[in-house]
Amino acid sequence: MPDLLLNALKSSNNGRPPVWLMRQAGRYMPSYRALKEKYSFHDFCLKPELITQITLMPIEQLDVDAAILFSDILLPLQALGLKVTYEEKIGPKIYPAIRTREQVENLQLEPMENCFKGIPLAIDTLRNTLKVPLLGFAGAPFTLASYVIEGETGKDLRHTKEWMVSDPQGFQMLLDLMAEVSIAFLHLQIKAGVQAVQLFDTWAQALSPAQFEQYSIKMMRKVKDALPPDIPVIFFSRGGVSNALMMAKAGPEAISVDWTVDLASLKNSVPPSLSLQGNLDPAWLYAPPEKLVKAVKDLLATMQNHPGFIFNLGHGILPDVPYSNVKLLVDTVKYATY
Ligand code: CP3
Repeated sequence: MPDLLLNALKSSNNGRPPVWLMRQAGRYMPSYRALKEKYSFHDFCLKPELITQITLMPIEQLDVDAAILFSDILLPLQALGLKVTYEEKIGPKIYPAIRTREQVENLQLEPMENCFKGIPLAIDTLRNTLKVPLLGFAGAPFTLASYVIEGETGKDLRHTKEWMVSDPQGFQMLLDLMAEVSIAFLHLQIKAGVQAVQLFDTWAQALSPAQFEQYSIKMMRKVKDALPPDIPVIFFSRGGVSNALMMAKAGPEAISVDWTVDLASLKNSVPPSLSLQGNLDPAWLYAPPEKLVKAVKDLLATMQNHPGFIFNLGHGILPDVPYSNVKLLVDTVKYATY
């Protein structure tokens, strides 16, 4: 069986498109919810047996073409001495929120190896178990900074933007520190054996084009440049075609875009060597099965015979979609004719 995902990341896949899904392990799965009765989300991210077990759930149940390490973009902030909590219905919280240069200067990054001993152990077991590639990931510097500044998921990024416009140098110091966090977290995963990585810049869509270039693209490039050149890197951001085209120019092997981008036009506007991942609206998973199948087939038809296409959603799976629809989506990509 040729490796569909790694080939697609080299824009040389001649088979059907590979499929994996952002947030493929999560609360929409009965098996995940059952395990959550017994353990905290922190246990899920720290204990090697749990990391392994949860990473494998979508492989065993959905039979997707790639595994993504079970972890979280906010976890490595703990290596700065910040407290990160996850509470049901409240979402993540970071203490203390960082809003001054002095605070940035007082943060020190502990080696990731000391903080997250379970991650390399889990990656080692996973590589020995999996027949599909294992992806690693990290938050991009801007998105990490937005969580650190807001102390939670920021609705309008009020504090982030206030700092950005009133003290750009101080803000840049924080971004540089976040790049260090991202790079160290990815090095930990790459040394242990992940085969490609995705950088999530979830909140960069709140930026103007000029700010996107300066705070998202430049910082994602800085992270990529610090990684071994043989590890394919996927840049993920939302915010439409303008952001997609800027990401395309920044040098990743692949870009992952949301459903506001027309992939058929995008593929004609970027070099053929750039792989494209996406971009079904995750809301289709609420649709009646026949409508979902049609939406999946329409996207497949658009990208037919594209050697660098990776089927995914435009953003993560929402926690309350029917499990049966997620399975149907994956099976449609793998087995349907269109
Ligand atoms: O994709 C996967 O299956 C791998 C695991 C993964 C998680 N988070 C697990 C998780 C990945 C790749 C992430 C990335 C992540 N985390 C992002 C970027 C992607 C995106 O969705 O935009 C962001 C912004 C975060 C921060 C974060 N972590 C938030 C906002 C939340 C709460 C929201 C929610 O869904 O509850 C988390 C918690 C989290 N991370 C959960 C999971 C499965 C839910 C925890 C639970 O079980 O209650």
